[in-house]
Amino acid sequence: MGARLLGGATAAVLVFGGLGAIGAAAAPKGPGPRYTAGAAGAGDAYFPFAGNGGYDVQHYDLDLDYTPPAPAPAPLEGRLDGTATIDLVATQDLDRFNLDLRGMEVESLTVNGKTAAAVAPPMAGAEVDGAAYWHVQDDDARVWELTVQPRPKLKAGQRATVVIQYGGVTTQPEDIEEALYGWVTTRDGAMVASEPDGSMTWYPVSDHQTDKASYSFAITVPEGKVAVANGIQPKPEETADGLTTWYWDAPDAQASYLTTASVGDFELRETRYSSSGVPIIDAVDLDLAPNRLATTNASLARQADMIDFFENRFGPYPFTAYGSIVDDDDIGYALETQTRPIYSTQAGEGTVAHELAHQWFGDAVSPERWQDIWLNEGWATYAGWMWTEEAGGRTAQQSFNAWYAPARTPAYWQLQIGDPGPMGLFATQVYNRGAGTLHALRVEVGDEAFFEGTRLWLERYDDSAATADDFRAVYEEVSGEDLDEFFETWLYDQVKPPADWVQP
Ligand code: TRP
Ligand code: ZN
Repeated sequence: MGARLLGGATAAVLVFGGLGAIGAAAAPKGPGPRYTAGAAGAGDAYFPFAGNGGYDVQHYDLDLDYTPPAPAPAPLEGRLDGTATIDLVATQDLDRFNLDLRGMEVESLTVNGKTAAAVAPPMAGAEVDGAAYWHVQDDDARVWELTVQPRPKLKAGQRATVVIQYGGVTTQPEDIEEALYGWVTTRDGAMVASEPDGSMTWYPVSDHQTDKASYSFAITVPEGKVAVANGIQPKPEETADGLTTWYWDAPDAQASYLTTASVGDFELRETRYSSSGVPIIDAVDLDLAPNRLATTNASLARQADMIDFFENRFGPYPFTAYGSIVDDDDIGYALETQTRPIYSTQAGEGTVAHELAHQWFGDAVSPERWQDIWLNEGWATYAGWMWTEEAGGRTAQQSFNAWYAPARTPAYWQLQIGDPGPMGLFATQVYNRGAGTLHALRVEVGDEAFFEGTRLWLERYDDSAATADDFRAVYEEVSGEDLDEFFETWLYDQVKPPADWVQP
């Protein structure tokens, strides 16, 4: 849905040319072949093999069966079996195309009902007969690519349905910087938080936000467990033979990293509504520590007011539902999973405001490349400053001043928040200097242009993805100012920006 193919879509294939077997096009000999292989990556320099080229996913239907770990001292391992039904449209004449799938084994695969044969990865350029698939998983090279060779080949514009049965043992994967992400197995279920490229740990996916799609889920778990995904329950859960199947529908365009299907000892609370009618569906782990449960309940009680406030500033809430998942397990952070953020051990008020703001900034409008992460974290942090002001605390200007005032190390100012590197995605500077950038922009162009630009940004790139340059262009348009130097100073200069934007 709405894929915007990146200019550098073939860069990954060039850099990793030796891995032609995973789906790079063989060099054409003589008259070029009309049908070529889709790219093995979406062209994101930070994660060259995340996402894929040559098609545009419309919908993922995920039918998942999950068995959580047995009680301690049994190993912390679960079992996940899935059937993914993926509707896509070819965007080029396709000889073959890739999906991303990590740590799971494919059991069967069909394209438009026709069974593809499992084959060993061919050597670069080698031909494979007939409908086939092969799966390369190289943890050291961080390459996880499932290549599908459809027969008949797919023509540009043609729809295809790919059905993949797969499964595997789940554990607690370790991320760069030791954050847990993807399908994180917990003793009581799973906390599923997949930013930036962890969705491929639990379903076959084009794992990049430039290819958004809608989702539906049927998640079967042992009776007593609750499975919570994005969106709304289209029908009640069903229990038979000690198993309960939970149904969820997420009809809005959604980036893969914002998908969740968390399982736990949740209390699924009665739906409440914002004054604009957004249904709020919360799931709270019954095992939260009592003081943390009290904090969580107080924060969740403010969600409707927060929606009102942000709608008033940014425009309509972008999706069909909202609500929070609060797990007693700790992955070390919260994530703005679309329509249903997930929190570790408790949900504090500031974090709830932050994850709600992400629904506009990051979810409805996503960063086109991971390098643009400040657009997510800067905005969510800044919206948190705005909420603090609304709730009677410091003004946004006071929060800016408080961030700006203290002396910091040169290393703090060295990080370019406009290009923090894959290891720097969640560095504190991306959050705070990012928020500082937005406040400085507001002071620079004035409140009227700032909020006009913000609404224009959200309208223009709704359900899609855009870059920092697109962002600058919007505020130049509404303010009539050249903001090139401004953004150079704030996003790239490796020193503290001057005090020009500090005000009483
Ligand atoms: N995007 C999350 C937020 O709203 C933070 C996050 C996601 C994160 N993945 C992470 C933080 C990994 C540290 C490590 O703040
Ligand atoms: Zn955030």
